[in-house]
Amino acid sequence: MVDIKNVVVVGAGQMGNGIGQVSLMIGLNVTLVDIKDEFVDGGYAKIEEGMKKLEAKGALSESAADIMAKCKKSTDLASAVKDADIIIEAVVENMDVKKQVFKTCDENAPAHCILASNTSTMSITEMATATNRPDKVIGMHFFNPVPLMRLIEVIYGDKSSDESIEAGMEFAEKLPCLKGNRYIAKVLKDRPGFICNRVTAPAQIYQNYVFDLCAEKGISWKALDNDTRGPMPTCVLADYVGIDTLYHGLNYYSKTLSPDFAPGKVITQLFNEGKLGKKTGQGFHDWSKGQPRPDKTAGKARLMKLGYPIAIMLNEGCRVLEEGVTTSWEVIDQVLMAGMNMPGIMGPNLNNSAKQVEVLNELVEMTGKKYFTPCELLKSEAWINYK
Ligand code: 3HC
Repeated sequence: MVDIKNVVVVGAGQMGNGIGQVSLMIGLNVTLVDIKDEFVDGGYAKIEEGMKKLEAKGALSESAADIMAKCKKSTDLASAVKDADIIIEAVVENMDVKKQVFKTCDENAPAHCILASNTSTMSITEMATATNRPDKVIGMHFFNPVPLMRLIEVIYGDKSSDESIEAGMEFAEKLPCLKGNRYIAKVLKDRPGFICNRVTAPAQIYQNYVFDLCAEKGISWKALDNDTRGPMPTCVLADYVGIDTLYHGLNYYSKTLSPDFAPGKVITQLFNEGKLGKKTGQGFHDWSKGQPRPDKTAGKARLMKLGYPIAIMLNEGCRVLEEGVTTSWEVIDQVLMAGMNMPGIMGPNLNNSAKQVEVLNELVEMTGKKYFTPCELLKSEAWINYK
C-alpha cells in the first residue's frame, strides 16, 4: 500500500483548495498547482483563511502558520509532481485538458504515485489512456465545499487495480470533515456522473425545463427559489456549484446518456455571458454581497414541483443499480445525504414504485423528454431487493 505523505493538487479553484485544505489538516505536504500564479495564490489564500478560522476556534493541533509551511505553490506541473505519492486533478471539466494533465503527471511522477481525478462526470477509463499506469488511475470525487461535505466517491476505471482503489479509500477516510463523519462510497463502474451526480443529473433536465419556462413567463429567480425547500434553493445551488460546471456536465451527459440532457436556453445564456455564479459574483443571482438570502416578498413561482425530481431520481437510482455502479439502494441514499445533504429517495419509495411510474409517464407527456421513461428495474419493483 502506498504510504501517502506528499499530495499534489492540480487546479487551485474551489474544489482544489478544499482538497488541499483537508489534506494539510492531517499533516500531509501539499503542493498546489495551477497555470497562473494568481490562481495558485488565490487557492493558497482560501486555505490560509480556513486554517486561521480553525486556529481561532482551537481546532488545530499545530499552528496555522506551521501547517501552511507544508503547503507549496507551483505553476510547473512536471517538477511539482516529482516526489508525489498521490496527485488529485481538479482542473476544468474538459477531457483534452485532463488527459494532458495526466500525461504530464505520468511522465514525471514516481512509479508508485496514484493519479486521481476529481471529475464530476467524466470517464476515468478514458483519462487513464493518457498514461502508462492505468492500474494506478482512479476517481476521487469530492463535494463542494470539500471541508463541509462528507462524501468522497472513490471510482474504479476499467483498469484501476484493487490496490489503488484501497489506497484511495484509505486516504479518503483519513481526510477530516468539519460537519460530521466522512462517508466514502466505492463506485464499482465508471459510468457518467458516478453515483451522486448521476442520480441527481436528470433532475436537471426538469430544472432546465423549469428555468426556461420561468424566463418565458417573466417570473423572478427569487420566486423560483421560494418553490423549493432544502439546504440551498435551486438557483442559489446552481450558482454555488457553478454555471460552467453544470453546463459542461449537461453537455457531457447529452453525449454519453441522452440528448435530452442538452443545456437549456437560460443555462446556455448565463454560460455564454460569463455569469458563472458565486465564482464570478453573478449568475442567477448577484453574489457581490455574499450568498443571496431567501426573499419571501418575491412570492412563489409555483413552477417547480418537488414530486417530479423525486420520481426522476428514483428512476435514475434504479438505472444506477441496473448498470452495476453500486449494488445497494441504501448506498445511494447515504451518498445523497453525505454529498448534498439531501434526504434519501430510495428508502422512502420502497412501496411507491407503481405510483412513481405514473408520475414519470406524466412527465414524459408534459416535457416530451423520453429520458424520463421508467426503467425496467423500477417497473418490475425488483430494485427493492438490491439492499
Ligand atoms: N475552513 C474552516 N472553517 C470553515 C470553512 C473552511 N474552509 N468553511 C466553512 N467553515 C466554517 C464556517 O466559518 C462556519 O463556522 P461557524 O459555525 O463557526 O460560523 C462553519 O464552518 C459552517 O459553515 P457555514 O455557516 O457556511 O455552513 P452552513 O451551515 O451554512 O452550511 C453548506 C453550508 C454545508 C454548504 C450547506 O449550505 C449545504 O449543505 N449546501 C448544499 C451544498 C451541496 O449540495 N453541495 C454539493 C454540490 S454538488 C458537488 O459538489 C458535486 C460536484 O461534482 C459539482
